[in-house]
This record gives sequence, C-alpha cells and structure tokens, in this order.
Amino acid sequence: MAPTETLESIIATSGPPPHFVLVPLVAQGHIIPMVDLAHLLAERGARASLITTPVNAARLHSVADGARRAKLPLEIVELPFPPADDVLPQGCENVDQVTDNDHFLPLFHAIHRLAGPLESYLRALARRPSCIISDWCNSWTAGVASSVGIPRLFFHGPSCFYSLCDLNASTHGLHERAYTSATAEAEGHETYVVPGMPVRVEVTKATCVGFLDAPGFEAFREDCLEAIRTADGAVVNTFLDLEEQFVACYEAALGKPVWALGPFYINSNRDAQSMTSRGRKTSVDQSAVTEWLDAMDPGSVIYVSFGSIAQKLPKQLYEVGHGLEDSGQPLLWVVKDAEAALPEAAEWLKALEARTVGRGLVLRGWAPQLAILSHRAVGGFVTHCGWNSLLESIAHGVPIVTWPHFADQFLNERLAVDVLGIGVPVGAALPVMLFGDEAVPVVRGDVARAVSELMDGGEVAEERRRKAREYGERAHRAMEKGGSSYENLTLLIQSFRLSGGKETRHTGLQKEQQEKQIMSC
Ligand SMILES: *[C@@H]1O[C@H](CO)[C@@H](O)[C@H](O)[C@H]1NC(C)=O
Ligand SMILES: *[C@@H]1O[C@H](CO)[C@@H](O)[C@H](O)[C@H]1NC(C)=O
Repeated sequence: MAPTETLESIIATSGPPPHFVLVPLVAQGHIIPMVDLAHLLAERGARASLITTPVNAARLHSVADGARRAKLPLEIVELPFPPADDVLPQGCENVDQVTDNDHFLPLFHAIHRLAGPLESYLRALARRPSCIISDWCNSWTAGVASSVGIPRLFFHGPSCFYSLCDLNASTHGLHERAYTSATAEAEGHETYVVPGMPVRVEVTKATCVGFLDAPGFEAFREDCLEAIRTADGAVVNTFLDLEEQFVACYEAALGKPVWALGPFYINSNRDAQSMTSRGRKTSVDQSAVTEWLDAMDPGSVIYVSFGSIAQKLPKQLYEVGHGLEDSGQPLLWVVKDAEAALPEAAEWLKALEARTVGRGLVLRGWAPQLAILSHRAVGGFVTHCGWNSLLESIAHGVPIVTWPHFADQFLNERLAVDVLGIGVPVGAALPVMLFGDEAVPVVRGDVARAVSELMDGGEVAEERRRKAREYGERAHRAMEKGGSSYENLTLLIQSFRLSGGKETRHTGLQKEQQEKQIMSC
C-alpha cells in the first residue's frame, strides 16, 4: 500500500463492495445485534443480507423500510419456515414465543432444515457473496458455506470474557453436566477456578454450565463447537478498550481472527424509530416514558428489566416489586405481557403503582430500552446481565445491579463486578429454569440492599459511577473514525473485498493473527 493511500480510499476505489450474508439465531437477543451489525456494514458501503423466517421477517419491516428510506444496501431475506416436529406449535418461529421447556429443541431442529433453502438462495444470486456471518448456534450454515465455497465467520453474542471462560472450561471438561434446580441446590455451590484465564475467575458448578449444556442438546452443542473450530474467524459485539486482554486471549485460543466491532448499536445515522423497534414492536408509548423521566431528578431512577426470555411467576414478581419499593428509589420497571396477564399479578402491580404514585412507573411489554438508558434521570439498571443489555448500560455509562438468570449471564456478572467494577451483585447464586421454576432465589431484602448500595451517595458508589461513565466514553470512542471498532470494521470489509470470496487470504490472515496473538497471551 502506498503511504498516501488510506484503507478508506482503497475501500472506496477497489472493485465492487463485498456482500455479507448474516444468519442470526431466531431469538431476540441474537437478532437485535445482527440487525445492528447489518446496519454497520451497509453504512460502510458493504451489502448486507439478513436471512430469517416469515414471523421474524414481519417483525423487521420497520428495519427494512428504514434501510430503503436511507438507501442502504441492506435487505431482509425471508426463507419459508421449514417443516417442524408435531410438538412445536404452529407459528412458533422465535425463542420468545416458546412457552414450554420442551419446545426449544424442536424449534432448533426446524431451523436446522433451513440449510437447503439457504443454499438455493445463495446459488441463485448473480454473484457469489463474499462471506457468511452466522450465529454460532446456527452450526448448519457450516455445511452450506463449504458447499457453496464461501468463507464463514461466526458471531458469538456474549463478552469475550465469557467466551474464553466457556472455551477453556469445556476444553478441560469442566462443564460436567446440567443441573436441575434440585441438584443445583444440593451440589451446585461447589466452586472451581476457570483454567487458562489471564485473571483469576472462580465460579460455581451450577452457574457455569456452557451455552446449550442441557439434556437433549448434547449433539446440538457438539455441532456448534465444531462449527466454531471450522470457521474462518469470529465477530463479537464488544470493544478493545473494555476487554482487550480477553479479546486477545480468545483470539489466541481460537487461532483465528476475532473482529471486535461493538457496541454495534452505536450508529449515529439511524432514525429513532428503527432503533427503537429493532425487530420487536414496543408496546409502550415512548413519549409518555420520556415525559415521566423528565420529571425525575438526574441520576435518581433505577431502571429494571430482565430481557426477552426469563419469565417470573407472581410470587417472584412480588419480591422484585417489594424490594424496589423498599429501596425508596424512583423506579421504572418493565414487566412482560405474559407475566402481567395473570389476574393476581395484574392486580398486585396496580396496587404497587398506587402505592408508588409519583415515583414508580411499571411498563408492560417490550420497552424502548435505549431511550430509557440514555435519559439523564436514570442512575442505575437492575439487569439479568444478558450481554446486549449489559453493553447498552455500559455504553450509556449507567452502573448496574447484576441479577443473572442463566447461560452466559453469570460470567458477564463476574466481568461487570470483578473486572470492570461497575456492578453490585443482587446475590443470585443458582440458575433458574426458564418456565415454571417455583424457586425464589432472590428475595425483596436482596433487591432493596443491592439497589440502595448502587444508588447511594457514598464514595464507593461514586467510584462505580465514575468507572461506568469512563467505559461509556470509551465505547463511543471505539465506534468513531479512528476508534478500534471502527477500524476493525474497515479491516474486515477490506479483507473481503480483496479476497473476493476466496478462502486463501483468510487462511493467511489466520496464521498472521495466531502468531501475533500467541506472543501477547
Ligand atoms: C485458555 O486460555 C488461554 C488464554 O488465556 C489460551 O492461551 C489457552 O489456549 C486456552 N485453552 C486452554 C485449554 O487452556
Ligand atoms: C482490531 O484492531 C486492533 C488495533 O486497533 C488490531 O490490533 C487487531 O488486530 C484488529 N483485529 C483484527 C481481527 O483485525
């Protein structure tokens, strides 16, 4: 490269732009970052095609419309939902529609059968796409990519801290088995230290099971791990100034490039509407929420939401509500429609609203989280530690109360509390089953204590806030021109433009990466 040529100018002048085919898992927490990634790619001139099924595509209408209005090379590609086993209810195409623990596997099996339709779609294109970026759980794309001859990157949703722990623990056979509530209660508190981590990470056996480490999922998980081994690289929704050593060590452990491009959602050019919905209609009037927040003191409100999957029974909701009320703090709490639909819960929530009138707002359904987190009245977030929520909180400089429920969430909590110093644990020690788990692992006293500790005016709380603000600033810098995520995206797009879909360059890239990283880990 001549010294006067920048990567940008090369991208602008050399050949047709690369075409990325994105294949998210059919779960809200996986679709949202992929939609954001598609925008990032398209805004930088690459073509982005996001593959999904009819129910999910219908939720993405506003995304497609917004892209059309902005003349972005971004499209939603709808493939027919494949025939499913009889147990899967008709029309169930997303994890958030599942109402029974036994429906997850049939849903994943059905999605697996998209391999044929995806291959036909790819072969019918006038030009072979440059690269597939698929959720690591969509291991079925590995066969499609190799059969059509396209490089494949996997997208892994959580922090690299989690991904590295998971990889190392499973390599050492430490994910022994899944725990039910009963066995977890009995033996799950036993701890071990995750091997090979650059910092000491001690976890309990019950909270540190791997993703998909559940009975019946063994073959599925094995396929997913194999698809990681055979991929050409990884794309992650994080940034170097947040967890550089874990990104570097994950890269070294995988032996292939890891492109840290996040936080994906930070994208100045998107209109508010497409940012708010991102694949799910908000059932909440955003201006009413903003108006309510406007009346609150800066940094005084505690925002509470547990993501798209976990559902609480009434007796569990009551512990959350009483705890928030007892903290004495202004509260903005998001309750799911399904949770609020039960008559006894509905009545109880009304009574809570009556008791906290003027300082409490309960939202029912899917809330405009980015608008809430960006409001100056919000001073803390009680979160389940799903990575999207955690990263959004970090990027807005909002410190958190950590209440992990399952999967990667317990390790994301360790990162937030022990490594970043921006969280207060509520004290959740055991994972919850997704539906119908009767246990009440966290009680009102825990909630009130953690919220008060987070929101108080003391030095420790102030230091936590200072750190959160600092990471928030770094997140935005990473996404600006010259920032690490921005420049990693430049490199990603450039490498696929040069390779034009051939795999050879990527093998070279991988080697280079491996040598560089092994030295630093
Ligand atoms: C664990 O993590 C380290 C990086 O800290 C990596 O170098 C190593 O290969 C990983 N794997 C195992 C099995 O320890
Ligand atoms: C991402 O950028 C950093 C420097 O900002 C660089 O060291 C790293 O190699 C880049 N990652 C990839 C996969 O190119």
